[in-house]
Amino acid sequence: MTMSDFPVLKASASSLRTTNPIRQIVDGMKTVPNPDLADIRLSIGDPTIFGNFSVPDSVNAALVEAINSKKFNGYPPSTGYESARAAIAKAYGSDPRAPLTPADVIIASGCSGAIELAISAMADEGQNILLPRPGFSLYQTIAEARGVEVRHYDLVAEKNWEASIESIEALIDAKTAFILITNPSNPCGSNYSEAHLLELLAVAQKHRLPIFADEIYADMVFSGQTFTHIARLSTDVPVISAGGLAKRFMVPGWRLGWLTIHDRHGQLAQIRDGLNRLSQLVLGANSLLQGVLPTILLETEQSYFDNNNRMLEELANTTVEAIRKIPGLQPIAPQGAMYVMVKIDPVALPEFAGNDSRFCERLIAEQSVHCLPGACFGVPGYFRIVFTSPKEKLAEAFARMADFCRKYHVSQE
Ligand SMILES: Cc1ncc(COP(=O)(O)O)c(C=O)c1O
Repeated sequence: MTMSDFPVLKASASSLRTTNPIRQIVDGMKTVPNPDLADIRLSIGDPTIFGNFSVPDSVNAALVEAINSKKFNGYPPSTGYESARAAIAKAYGSDPRAPLTPADVIIASGCSGAIELAISAMADEGQNILLPRPGFSLYQTIAEARGVEVRHYDLVAEKNWEASIESIEALIDAKTAFILITNPSNPCGSNYSEAHLLELLAVAQKHRLPIFADEIYADMVFSGQTFTHIARLSTDVPVISAGGLAKRFMVPGWRLGWLTIHDRHGQLAQIRDGLNRLSQLVLGANSLLQGVLPTILLETEQSYFDNNNRMLEELANTTVEAIRKIPGLQPIAPQGAMYVMVKIDPVALPEFAGNDSRFCERLIAEQSVHCLPGACFGVPGYFRIVFTSPKEKLAEAFARMADFCRKYHVSQE
C-alpha cells in the first residue's frame, strides 16, 4: 500500500451490526480436513450440488423461450409483473379459506429478500420479534442489523420440534411486533399438524400479534404428512407468508422469492403500504424468471414434486437408520424438507459434552465429513445434517461418522 493522508473510512454502524452467526461459528472452527479422505459436505442446504436433484426440463425450455421472446428485458413493476403475481396468487391462493389476488403478492430477490422486506416492514428499531430456536439464522442477522431485538422461543425436540406455547407467551410484551414460524423447518425437518398450527394461531390471537410464516419448504413433506399453510387456518390473525422457487424447484441460485399477504380484515393496510414502498428499493427479482413464473408454477407436472419428495424421504430414512446405529448419536426423524437434527449424547460422548462445534471440527479433521454445529441454530448439543447427497455418498459419510463415534464412545455397561 502506498502512503496517503486520506483517513481510514468508517463503515456504517448497521453494516457492522450485520453478523451471520453461522459464519461466526464456522470461521471460528479449525476445519482442516483429513488430506487422505475426500470431503463429504453434509453442511450446505443447496440440493443441486450433487446433480441428483435438478430443475424440470420443461422449466429450462420455458426459460430459453422467454429469453428468445425478448419480452422480459425491461424493468418489471417493483412488486413484480402482474402475470407473475397472478400465477403466485393462483398457485397458492386456490383455497377459499385464504384467497389471494395479485395485489396480495410481492416478488423479491429470493426468499431471503422476501424475509428482509417483511422484517423491515413489520418491525421498527426498539421493537422485538419472536423467533424459533433452533432456527434459520438469517432472521436474526436481518433483525439485528435493523436494531430490532430478537427473542427466541423454544421448539421441543421430544414433540417433533413443536413450539412451546408457554415459552412464546413468556416472551411477549408491548413491544413485540410479530411471531415468526418456519414450517416445514430448517434446521429441524419438522412439519406441523393442523392442531399445532391452531395453537400457534390461538396465542397470536390472544395477544393480537400477526404471524410471519416462512414456508419456503411448503409441500416438501413425507408419507403420512400433510403440509398446511397457516394462513388457511386463520380466521382473524393476519398472516404474511414467505415462499420461493429455491427448494421446491431445486434452483436456489435463481433468487426468486415472494411474500403473500393474508389480511381478512384490513389490519395489514399500513404494513402493505410499507412493503410496497420497500419493494421500490431493489425492484424485485430478475425479469426473465418472473416472465417464466406462470409456466413454472402452473404447468409443472405433479410427478416432478412427488418424485423429489419420494427421493428426499428415502434419503431421510437412510440417514435416520444409519445414525440410529451410531453409538452416542440420536437423530430426530424429520417429517419433511431436507434436514435432520442429531443429538450428541453427552454421557456416551463426554469428549463433546455441550461442545457441538468441537464435534463438527474433529469430524472434519479426522473424517473429512462436514456438518453444521447446533450452535449455528441456537441449540448446542446437536448438529445438522443435510441429506440431499446421493445415497452412496451418505453411506460413506455415515460409515466414517460411525468410526469416529466408536473412537470417542464411552460404554455405559
Ligand atoms: C427456512 C429458510 N428460509 C429462507 C431461505 C432462503 O431462501 P432463498 O435461497 O430463496 O433466499 C432458506 C434457505 O436455506 C431457508 O432454509
